[in-house]
Amino acid sequence: MNPADLIASLSAQLGANQVLSADSPDALLAYERDWRGRMRGRALCVARPSDAQQVAQVVRECIRAREAGLKVSIGPQGGNTSMVMGATPDDSGLQLVLSLQRMNRVRDIDAANLTITAEAGCILQNLQQAAQDAGFLFPLSLAAEGSCTIGGNLGTNAGGTQVLRYGNTRDLCLGLEVVTAQGEIWNGLTGLRKDNTGYDLRHLMIGSEGTLGIITAATMKLYPQPAACLTAWAALPSMQAASDFLGLAQRMLASSLTGFEVMGRFALSLVVQHFPQQRMPLWPGASQECPYSVVLELSDAQSEAHASAQFSALMEKALEDGMIADAVVAESIAQAHALWHIRESIPLAQAQDGLNIKHDISLPVSRIPAFCEVTDALLQKAVPGVRLVNFGHLGDGNLHYNVQCPPGADGAAFLREHEETMHKIVYDSVAAHGGSISAEHGIGRLKRETLPHYKSPVALQMMRSIKQALDPMGLLNPERVI
Ligand code: FAD
Ligand code: MLT
Ligand code: ZN
Repeated sequence: MNPADLIASLSAQLGANQVLSADSPDALLAYERDWRGRMRGRALCVARPSDAQQVAQVVRECIRAREAGLKVSIGPQGGNTSMVMGATPDDSGLQLVLSLQRMNRVRDIDAANLTITAEAGCILQNLQQAAQDAGFLFPLSLAAEGSCTIGGNLGTNAGGTQVLRYGNTRDLCLGLEVVTAQGEIWNGLTGLRKDNTGYDLRHLMIGSEGTLGIITAATMKLYPQPAACLTAWAALPSMQAASDFLGLAQRMLASSLTGFEVMGRFALSLVVQHFPQQRMPLWPGASQECPYSVVLELSDAQSEAHASAQFSALMEKALEDGMIADAVVAESIAQAHALWHIRESIPLAQAQDGLNIKHDISLPVSRIPAFCEVTDALLQKAVPGVRLVNFGHLGDGNLHYNVQCPPGADGAAFLREHEETMHKIVYDSVAAHGGSISAEHGIGRLKRETLPHYKSPVALQMMRSIKQALDPMGLLNPERVI
């Protein structure tokens, strides 16, 4: 079989305009280029099924093509916001991009069970909105929420800014519908909070980055909306102070603390430079003078007044103990959004500033200050003047510890000469401090070669066995993860 035969039979089944091929290269660009603009692959075609049955048909057609000698593979894709080149094809021209974008319906809200069931291609923001319209909260929140999909969030086990209180995507999921690598449909949309009937296939699929099955729908947890939600910003003299402040906030606010994000001064300066219309708090002032700032959120089940009193007590104590240098509490929803917007603009500001080396790492919170001190120094020693775009989800022990060339240096040349060394310094230090080389973005293709250096051989062998058992042909997302 040749690619044209496969495209023809897929077009016959899905409809000609739901299979985009190389005849229309412009239409393929959005599916072939990764979000960071680091690479553009070449898809055999992009298939856009409308339901789980059509997804299963695509898989079965590809199996038939394989059996007829065409070495095609399938890459599931949601919003294509992967940070690790997980969703874009390689340049073989033999990977079919299976876009879930058209499968975007919210199927059901079960108010009594506190669950929402949606198709995999549902944009995260639309899911949040549907929950809100029904009077609930769907807490998963990240800067890509306007374009990423719940299927992609599950595929990567995305984290975001509310993990501290509500957990990762995995913790929010109660059931899945999945098309297997054999083209069968597994309906596991139970919505059960307890189900110990053997291996938990749902958790195997979540975070498997499309290598074990194609998620077509999910049942997710809903929460009551808080009565009040307050946001504050504080500038701090050190990472140790940020970590101490986190501990204090956890003790004083308990589960009302729903977000705690740290931002290094250089990361903030990129937002000031690239988005001058955004008003940076305490700048000039403590945010500009201190090495770190944090944005934190309190969600209160009682009332605005109760929330406000709790926040004031926390800030007073932190100022008194010298943990924070200065702080502002947002006085309106618009101000709160503006503070969060600054934090969420960091990846975009960083992308606009040019090439950089990303590290999405996690560590025990207790070891983050020592990690930063040691690793900052090692990087400076290796390349004097190197700049750190250090920010992230401190409440979860997750830093985006990114490295940018010294001022005035050529970004591309810096990456060519130093990318490997920078990775090695950071990942060796992460390992020495008991951390992980991927906290929330996954492995994709970007970290596939790196993973074996930092993961136990026993764990890797178990992962290979699982892949072999569920996808013996290697049809789904080959050369990702393992
Ligand atoms: P894609 O990029 O399309 O796919 C991601 C992976 O999941 C790929 O391996 C793909 O094959 C697989 N996949 C996609 N759909 C399915 C499916 N239906 N079934 C099986 N596998 C599937 N991540 C975080 O964790 N926290 C953050 O705070 C965060 N912030 C971000 C901010 C920005 C500005 C950007 C661009 C990205 C951010 N990300 C973050 C990274 C990214 O992982 C998330 O945006 C999101 O989880 C990816 O969803 P997506 O629909 O775009 O998936
Ligand atoms: C974030 O927390 O903003 C994201 O994970 C994106 C990034 O790391 O750039
Ligand atoms: Zn993040």
